[in-house]
Amino acid sequence: MNGFYEQLNKERENNRWAEWENHRSEITNMVHLATSQLPHQSSAIILGAGNCDDLDLISLIGNYDNVALADVDFSAMMDAVGPLETIMRNKIDLISIDFTKLDEINFYRNLKDLFNKKVSAEHIVEFLKSCITQLDELQILTHLKGKFQVVISSALYTQLFYMNALQIFAPYVEGYKQEEITTIMDGLLEMRNVVIQNYNDLLVDLAAPHAVIVVWSDVLKISPDNRFLETVNSFPSESERIQFIMNEVKRNGRMEGMFGLQDIQNRLANKGRNFHYWIWPYSSKNHCLTFGISGRLSSLE
Ligand SMILES: C[S@@+](CC[C@H](N)C(=O)[O-])C[C@H]1O[C@@H](n2cnc3c(N)ncnc32)[C@H](O)[C@@H]1O
Repeated sequence: MNGFYEQLNKERENNRWAEWENHRSEITNMVHLATSQLPHQSSAIILGAGNCDDLDLISLIGNYDNVALADVDFSAMMDAVGPLETIMRNKIDLISIDFTKLDEINFYRNLKDLFNKKVSAEHIVEFLKSCITQLDELQILTHLKGKFQVVISSALYTQLFYMNALQIFAPYVEGYKQEEITTIMDGLLEMRNVVIQNYNDLLVDLAAPHAVIVVWSDVLKISPDNRFLETVNSFPSESERIQFIMNEVKRNGRMEGMFGLQDIQNRLANKGRNFHYWIWPYSSKNHCLTFGISGRLSSLE
C-alpha cells in the first residue's frame, strides 16, 4: 500500500517547487484568509502533507505553537522538513498513517488475492461490503480528537482509494463479462464514497470546537496550455465564469474530488464559508482545475 503512494510522490518533477509557486500561494492565501479570525492559533494539522510542495511551511507554521503533518509517506515528509531551521522543525510532529484504515485490514492484498482466484463479481462485492463494515469498527488518531484549531487537507479525495483500486482491478478486467465488470465497478464506487466520507469524519473528529477546516482537491484535468483559463476569463461576470467551470466539471470532472468537497461543504456553516478555484500545474503534461473550501463546522452555527 505504502509503495503506491511513495511511487507517486517520487515521480515528482525536479522543478516542482518552482512550478507550484502559484498553487502554493493560492493555498497560503486561502489558509490565512480562513484563519484570520481565530482568536488564538495554537495548533494545526495538515493531512496529505507528503513532499510539502504545495505548503509554504514557513508562512503557515509561523502562526502556530505546534503543527502535525500526516501522510502515509513518512519519508517524503522527513525530506520536506529536513531543511527547515531548528526552531521551525521543533514545532512539527510527523505522523505516518493511512487515513483510509485499509492497511489495517490488508485490503489491497486481499482484493488482489480474490482477483487471482478469479472469484465471481458477487463475491468481490460481498468482500467490499464486509470491508466497509470492518472500517466502521476501526478508529484512528483517537488521541488527537478535538485537538486542532485548524485542520487542513491537501489534495486527497482523488488519491484515497479509487485510483489504487482501479489499478489493481485493471489486469483482471478481461476475465469478467461486461455486466460483471459493471457490478464490480459499482461496488468500488460505493466503497470509494464510504472511504471519502470516513476521511471527512476524521477531519471533523480532529477539529477542536470553533476550529477552521480548509480542504482543496483537483476536480478536472485540463491541458497545460492556457486555453481553459482564457475561456473562463472570456465570460464577463464571475457568476458566468463559475457556471462554465461547474458545467465542465460535471461533464468531465473527477467525481471523487467533487464528492469529497460536497460532503465537507455540507458540514460547514454557511457563514464565513469560502470557495476558491485556481489551476494547479501538477506536472508538465497534466494541469488540474482545483477547488478549495474553508469554513467552520455547522454545528457551531
Ligand atoms: C496529491 S498529494 C498532495 C500534495 C502534497 N502535499 C505535496 O505537496 O507533495 C496527496 C498526498 O496524500 C498522501 N496520501 C494518499 N493517500 C493516502 C492515505 N490513504 N493515507 C495517508 N496519506 C495518503 C500521498 O502520500 C500524498 O503525499
